[in-house]
Amino acid sequence: MKACAATVRVVDLFCGIGGFRYAAESVATAAGVRARCVLSSDIDADCRKAYEANFGETPTGDICAIPAAAVPAHDLLLAGFPCQPFSIIGRRQGFEDARGTLFFEIARIAQAKRPRAIVLENVKLLVGRDRGRTLTRILDVLRDLGYRVEWRVLNALDFGLPQKRERVFIVGLRPAADFEWPSGGIPMTPLRALLEKRVAREHFASDYIRARRLARLTPTKEPTIWHENKAGHVSAHPFACALRANASYNYLLVNGERRPTPRELLRLQGFPDRFRIVCTPAQTRKQTGNSLPVPVAAAVLSGVFQACGWGGRGAKTEKTEG
Ligand SMILES: C[S@@+](CC[C@H](N)C(=O)[O-])C[C@H]1O[C@@H](n2cnc3c(N)ncnc32)[C@H](O)[C@@H]1O
Repeated sequence: MKACAATVRVVDLFCGIGGFRYAAESVATAAGVRARCVLSSDIDADCRKAYEANFGETPTGDICAIPAAAVPAHDLLLAGFPCQPFSIIGRRQGFEDARGTLFFEIARIAQAKRPRAIVLENVKLLVGRDRGRTLTRILDVLRDLGYRVEWRVLNALDFGLPQKRERVFIVGLRPAADFEWPSGGIPMTPLRALLEKRVAREHFASDYIRARRLARLTPTKEPTIWHENKAGHVSAHPFACALRANASYNYLLVNGERRPTPRELLRLQGFPDRFRIVCTPAQTRKQTGNSLPVPVAAAVLSGVFQACGWGGRGAKTEKTEG
């Protein structure tokens, strides 16, 4: 038996391919504590396969089928919950009316297990949905559970990633503690640093698509990512527009000629290169589009760890074998 190691117990809901988990583990390591995941859950079999290959454990499936009593005690609840139609939360009153949405699953577990901290992530659209009532209801539900709740929209571009991705983060602490949002301001990694040198033919767009793009824009010396919006307008930027799970095949083209490779997509979200790719390019494209920018999550979690005293006097301890 080794000496006591400070441990933060983590629950990773809607875990996808583990973006939140990478962030939590890196912040814990920097703080000199261990992040121990006690439960992960995702309904998607391909995500579970990727998660298993990278974290050595297979997430459980549908969170709706997991009784709160089966969820182990934990300190930190993470959830990049799906962007569902939330209107039901906005239109009605009170905690009970959140039922039927996946947010309620988070609230249900938080109510039963009372973790010290909750960190949620969602699309920026959530902020304006139903004229702000959806977000207000979510915050009210968490406040009713005793959390002091704050939210902020953060952009991956401000945290070093060459991807314009704005996401709302919600932080709940119980009891309340001084939490500081990260300020960002981290210089963007140049796109060229993320691009692979050799790219297989399968990632190149058809001659027809390439000719259509080149008829509209001229490639530059520095690489750019060409983005086609729904109206068919094409623009080129030294960064990617937000990766999307269900975007059209040629939504983002490097220099107007090829799709980003799976490794490049992972890098655009800040996943480390040790991430093992075990799914097809199409599956990885969907997974990275659904995932979150790891450095942004890490910056938020760093503030949470500090507020909770994890890495300092507030960390839980447990005996570790070895
Ligand atoms: C926005 S993604 C979160 C991705 C994750 N943050 C990551 O880093 O990859 C939402 C995830 O919720 C999962 N999901 C949807 N409904 C679910 C359910 N009922 N139970 C468990 N997971 C679910 C989806 O399969 C998807 O992977």
